Parts: sequence; structure tokens; C-alpha cells
Amino acid sequence: MLRRAVDAEAARWPARRFELDAPRNLPLVLGEEIYLEQVVRNLLTNAAKYSDLDSVIVVEARASDDVVVRVLDEGVGISEADAARVFELFYRSPAVTRKAAGAGIGLFVSRHLIEAMGGRIWATSRPERGADVGFAMPRHRLDDEAF
Ligand SMILES: Nc1ncnc2c1ncn2[C@@H]1O[C@H](COP(=O)(O)OP(=O)(O)OP(=O)(O)O)[C@@H](O)[C@H]1O
Ligand SMILES: [Mg+2]
Repeated sequence: MLRRAVDAEAARWPARRFELDAPRNLPLVLGEEIYLEQVVRNLLTNAAKYSDLDSVIVVEARASDDVVVRVLDEGVGISEADAARVFELFYRSPAVTRKAAGAGIGLFVSRHLIEAMGGRIWATSRPERGADVGFAMPRHRLDDEAF
């Protein structure tokens, strides 16, 4: 699913470089595939919109107790004050309104989808520059088959 989401966004943004950094044996998560793909694509669209053409966008997936997926860019970043607000409906940071068009809906929808599936989602800035928007989803366990 991650590969498909990255390829679909890469096709929409031919001038941009996208990288997928995920282990081959990433465990399955318990979630609705189509919703997860929509969330990843929302995050990738944001990364492409709010960073410069010559910068790289990385999707990083790691497994621990949960599976954590992060979209990392090298753009304007998300300030501490904005980190919670960006998930509000129609909120757009004044720092970006002239950089790219948008309605302020994508992250609101993403948060609702992830939380409805029992996951968590957050936004922060990277230490150097750029945004780090991630989500964690519960792993699919054999016991879940009982449901
Ligand atoms: N990768 C990012 N870098 C910097 N700011 C971001 C990033 N992703 C989101 N934001 C900030 O969060 C706001 C809300 O994002 P969201 O995706 O909900 O809306 P949008 O991109 O403005 O419009 P759309 O509804 O088309 O997605 C953005 O307007 C921007 O201020
Ligand atoms: Mg958006």
C-alpha cells in the first residue's frame, strides 16, 4: 500500500523526488487499506505542496509495538504552535497560505480516519528543517482473527 501511495503521488508530482524507506518484512496493521492509502496520500500531497522543488520527500515506515509511518520533507516545517492546530477543520498556517492552495481539510480528515481505526497521528518539525507528520497503527495480531 505504501509503495502504491508513493507511486501515485510521484506520478502527480513528476518534478519531485519521493523515497520509500521501509523494511521488506513490515508487519500487517489492523486498518482499512483504502483509508490508510488516502491518509498517506494526503501527507505526501502536503509534503510536496509545502516544500521546494529540489528537495526530497521521504516516507519512512518502522515496526515496533505499533507500525509507525512518517512523511518527512525539507520545507517550511510546522511550528510548535501549529502542531495541534493543523488537524483542526479549515486551519491553514499563515506561513503557507501564499505558498500553495488548500482548504485546510486534509489533515482533519486524516486524523479522523486514523483515530477511527484505533491509531494516532501527529505533526512536528524536523530538527534541521521541514515537517515530520506521522501516524501509528496497531499491528494485526493472530488473536484479531476472532473478531
Ligand atoms: N508538510 C507540511 N509542511 C508545512 N506545513 C504543513 C504541512 N502539512 C500541513 N501543513 C500545514 O497544515 C495545514 C493544514 O493541512 P491540511 O492538509 O489539512 O490542509 P491544506 O493542505 O491547507 O488543504 P487541503 O484541504 O487541500 O489538504 C496546511 O495549510 C499547512 O499550514
Ligand atoms: Mg493538505
